[in-house]
Amino acid sequence: MIIEPRMRGFICLTSHPEGCEQNVKNQIAYVQSKGPIDGAKKVLVIGASTGFGLASRITSAFGSDAATIGVFFEKPPLEGKPGSPGWYNSAAFEKEAHKAGLYAKSINGDAFSNEIKKQTLDLIKADLGQIDLIIYSLASPVRIHPVTGVLHRSVLKPIGSTFTNKTVDFHTGIVSEISIEPCNEEDIANTVAVMGGEDWAMWIDALKSENLLAPGATTVAYSYIGPSLTEAVYRKGTIGRAKDHLEATAFSISDSLKDIKGKAFVSVNKALVTQASSAIPVIPLYISLLYKIMKEEGIHEGCIEQIQRLYQDRLYSGNEIPVDENGRIRIDDWEMREDVQAKVAKLWLEATTETLPQLGDLAGYKQDFLNLFGFGFEGVDYLADTNEVVRISSIA
Ligand code: NAI
Repeated sequence: MIIEPRMRGFICLTSHPEGCEQNVKNQIAYVQSKGPIDGAKKVLVIGASTGFGLASRITSAFGSDAATIGVFFEKPPLEGKPGSPGWYNSAAFEKEAHKAGLYAKSINGDAFSNEIKKQTLDLIKADLGQIDLIIYSLASPVRIHPVTGVLHRSVLKPIGSTFTNKTVDFHTGIVSEISIEPCNEEDIANTVAVMGGEDWAMWIDALKSENLLAPGATTVAYSYIGPSLTEAVYRKGTIGRAKDHLEATAFSISDSLKDIKGKAFVSVNKALVTQASSAIPVIPLYISLLYKIMKEEGIHEGCIEQIQRLYQDRLYSGNEIPVDENGRIRIDDWEMREDVQAKVAKLWLEATTETLPQLGDLAGYKQDFLNLFGFGFEGVDYLADTNEVVRISSIA
């Protein structure tokens, strides 16, 4: 079929298999261009199909020749109906990994469930023995709690008072003011249940209790802080509470791994266009201004540049892993540079529907958004017929 982008709100209903493949190949080429990384050789990535998780899987495999197991929740294609981009990304990743002689298997299902955890543990037992790096990169709006059966829905709301600020509809470029009503206590608890650290700890407990963690095993989850511009809706909002919980969980996991000399880290990453972040009000405007400044300064990074740097300069540099006063790895250092933030804050005040095309990098935002779904890549013939029914060779 011929597949075109079909946008609805902040999602795209279609995705392009060859474009997704191109995206994965570009990321692989980037990692290879930076040279080998002396990193973990047996890696489990939870949330491995898009965004930071996909970049982590690619960096492990093509930077460190690692065997990888990827867990994700994606829609397989049907005839006449494209699959989700993470499906096609994973198919392309496995194809390239196998070509390079690397072990790569995937599990598609709900990572919050006991069933998917058990399936993953069984696969590790059968194929890899023990794991030495676990990347936890889930971004989900919902979680069915595996013990209580309760369905928790996360919300993106401020706490305490109504938040009013500018935002942009990145499809139309219209800058408008939005007001978001504050959450209630239940919203906070639900968001923490979905995006906090409980599930991360459950994964590590399960792996450890079955003796599937190698001595010195490391686990890393991803967090975000961001500037004061977005803090009411992000870091001081419901999602921020979940990130506080995730960050606190790193300490309790580290405690539980002491006997095997293992350690848990949170890495604070840069704001980037992903399926998760485009759903958060205010963030797209912030990102489009941030991109403009960071590109001008020559310090712009995408997911793959961020994660390659995380591995090479932080996790596996050969030195002690540098952390901030709260024990977090920081690869948002360039985003949070004072001069960068001062420029973004100035542009923020000036941004209107009329000025944004010059002030911000709306075009870059849109391009990145299209790329998420496999559209807009050079070298892909989007007018040609493509086979939408792509299989992943070793999916469980
Ligand atoms: P993403 O939406 O690109 O990826 C989410 C991944 O989770 C996908 O692989 C998806 O299949 C998987 N997933 C979702 N629900 C699942 C479930 N129930 N079972 C199994 N897999 C499931 O998200 P992104 O942006 O890469 O986020 C990953 C982490 O990075 C999140 O913790 C996010 O808060 C964090 N982060 C994101 C930033 C951004 O600007 N995008 C900045 C800093 C941190």
